[in-house]
Amino acid sequence: MSALMSSYGRLPVTISHGEGVWLWDTDGKRYLDGHGGIAVCALGHANQALAQAIAEQASQLLHCSNYYHIPVQEQLGEKLCQIADMDSVFFCNSGAEANEASIKIARLHGHKHGIENPAIVVMENAFHGRTLATLTATGNRKIQAGFEPLVPGFVRAPFADIEALERIAATHRNIVGVMFEPVQGEGGVMPAQQGYLSAVRELCNQQNWLMIVDEVQTGIGRTGKWFAHQHENIKPDVMAVAKALGGGVPIGACLASGAAADLIQPGSHGTTFGGNPLACRAGLTVIDEIEKGQLVERAGVLGTRIIEALKKRFDHAPEVVSVRGKGLMIGIELANPCGALAVQAAEAGLLLTVTADNVVRILPPYIMTDQEADELVEKLSGVISHFLGQSGDAVPA
Ligand SMILES: Cc1ncc(COP(=O)(O)O)c(C=O)c1O
Repeated sequence: MSALMSSYGRLPVTISHGEGVWLWDTDGKRYLDGHGGIAVCALGHANQALAQAIAEQASQLLHCSNYYHIPVQEQLGEKLCQIADMDSVFFCNSGAEANEASIKIARLHGHKHGIENPAIVVMENAFHGRTLATLTATGNRKIQAGFEPLVPGFVRAPFADIEALERIAATHRNIVGVMFEPVQGEGGVMPAQQGYLSAVRELCNQQNWLMIVDEVQTGIGRTGKWFAHQHENIKPDVMAVAKALGGGVPIGACLASGAAADLIQPGSHGTTFGGNPLACRAGLTVIDEIEKGQLVERAGVLGTRIIEALKKRFDHAPEVVSVRGKGLMIGIELANPCGALAVQAAEAGLLLTVTADNVVRILPPYIMTDQEADELVEKLSGVISHFLGQSGDAVPA
């Protein structure tokens, strides 16, 4: 009997250690890491620069609290503002907390403009985290069930539908912002169509709404730009980042620009661990390693290579609805639920996740060689073909 709460349905695998894009279990079996700890391990495993920086920081100062100045937090804040072209940062410890900060900033924005019951537009099939406010913002009843009463102040819209947002603008006087993922992750790897973000930006300008992007999964280079919104020539007012930023050390960040950058004032928000020296040193090192290795561009190139190869394999397979994604955020939607495929993939030495019931999702590290990317395609194609074969659907080779 485990002492742990039963929050997770775990695969029958116990990971012992890793190197690059490879992981080993406690029996010595090797796995190709196709999901990078759910989009966290951008640099793969056992990156030496990151390990050294963490060790060095640990022997110098792990934590001192935000009662004092923390130079490495200042440095990471400046670096993030530079790559994101934003003006200020609040550091926290996870994606959900970064989104909580976004939500609080939106409410401050509303109150500043005389809106007493501010509401934020959020999307169907969105995922923003597991705190009460972020699970309310999440567009998935399964995640909300049992935790009612939910938090007031959210209005739901279909994803990537600008007319729906315009209708909400016409019928609601209390909207203060619109919050969404540029590519929905947990919702099934759904990129918004090109042009949507620019249209949202324009509407937010017209309505005095904050444009709030959740880049927790898409950020820090995963889609082939530092941030996925940079695929369009726009800037959000507020952005949440986490996951890959620490390369495995927990850290989240909420960035803001323009008037939104000054809404948080002393005493209005905070957290004990947020931006501590260890997490910030990890964040700085991750960004530095990504820059040195030109890994943002590399994520884009690798993504195209993998997506094209998978499309070639599966475009004519009747049970494959689509192969889609941006950079190294890739989904293969099957016609039927395929949860069992994650176990079969692990048996075949490949780690991946299945999301939205029927979307096989890969989120690999950016440091893969071409050969490793091709191996990933081979293994993945084999596992999917085998799975579809079992369910009675032949897949053309
Ligand atoms: C888009 C998005 N937002 C928020 C979160 C929540 O992040 P965390 O699990 O670090 O709280 C996730 C996690 O998967 C995510 O994908």
